[in-house]
Amino acid sequence: MLKTTSRGLRRAIVPLLLASAACDAAVDHAAGVATMKRESFGTTPSGEAVDLVTLTNAHGVELRAMTYGAIIVSLKVPDRAGQLGDVVLGYDSLAGYVKSSPYFGAIVGRYGNRIAKGKFTLDGADYTLAVNNGPNALHGGLTGFDKVVWSADTMRTAEGVGIQFRYVSKDGEEGYPGTLTATVTYTLADASEVHIGYEATTDKATPLNLTQHSYFNLAGQGDIMSHVLTLNADRFTPVDATLIPTGELALVAGTPFDFTSPHAIGDRINADHPQIAFGGGYDHNFVLTRADTGLTLAAVLKEPTSGRVLEVRTTEPGVQFYSGNFLDGTLTGKGGVVYAHRTGLCLETQHYPDSPNQKTFPSTILRPGETYRSRTVWRFGVE
Ligand code: GLA
Repeated sequence: MLKTTSRGLRRAIVPLLLASAACDAAVDHAAGVATMKRESFGTTPSGEAVDLVTLTNAHGVELRAMTYGAIIVSLKVPDRAGQLGDVVLGYDSLAGYVKSSPYFGAIVGRYGNRIAKGKFTLDGADYTLAVNNGPNALHGGLTGFDKVVWSADTMRTAEGVGIQFRYVSKDGEEGYPGTLTATVTYTLADASEVHIGYEATTDKATPLNLTQHSYFNLAGQGDIMSHVLTLNADRFTPVDATLIPTGELALVAGTPFDFTSPHAIGDRINADHPQIAFGGGYDHNFVLTRADTGLTLAAVLKEPTSGRVLEVRTTEPGVQFYSGNFLDGTLTGKGGVVYAHRTGLCLETQHYPDSPNQKTFPSTILRPGETYRSRTVWRFGVE
């Protein structure tokens, strides 16, 4: 389990939790003050109320997230002309997410990514999970953390305005052991950064691999083939035909997986390479070349037309780069836009797939008495 260096920082910043930020809604961000607004976003089919929180920083950057799935519904950042545009895929209403969503904007858990055949053994006991992706378990099961309603508090810290989501996952939920209490915090900083902080505790040992599954499109439309990507990864984890790692940490040098220098995503996405064939494009975990145990640069994504740039930093050891290969035009998203093939891409900071079954991978087991801590920062800019 990765221990982060954020503890000291957290102690220094005592978050001021507000039951509701309605009182802040009147503050005008045009005056250079970050704001928070909370409102109803509807009701789930089972009758649970869902709230939407809008965070706006001093420069007008706006993040909207809801309590269903702790989903980031929209994220508006400026292009090089200063024009704000929404850079994440999703739906206009709660109903869209409930009906069918490939994890648009969601927190994925308990285990982001795949666990082979939905089975693992922990401390001598065998566990069986729902198989929901070919022969494997994917993204926490049939009702993962992306499909539950989280509680939420808004907060104002030295870093910016934020939302702290909390979810208690019952012992045995989706086949996982232990009562797990998870908090996820999104903080919108005035420096056009989104800070994602994860913490969790458990009363029984359990695998845990939380991630954020936003689909980025920095142009706000079209496919992502001309987005230019750099990944701070000399190695990746090759997979079998069902996208389970073979256990090897393969060098990227000389392959279409070498993003150690910037490459347009479309340049090699159709290359004749067995790993590209298995993924239907890029759908692989990259092993980050880490400087230390703190926040390390994982990815830089640039969109030449808009000039928008996204830098991703994380305390996690890996990042799943998924090029939206399963988007096929059957989903219609925000503003009636049809999400065609590869019109969004994910950079899921995480531990490696199938770690509970891979002895040589960094451990994803959280034990009673330990606190899981993970941090990812998205920094937006222009070029
Ligand atoms: C992850 C997986 C992909 C796909 C998407 C959701 O990124 O690695 O294979 O399942 O989630 O569609």
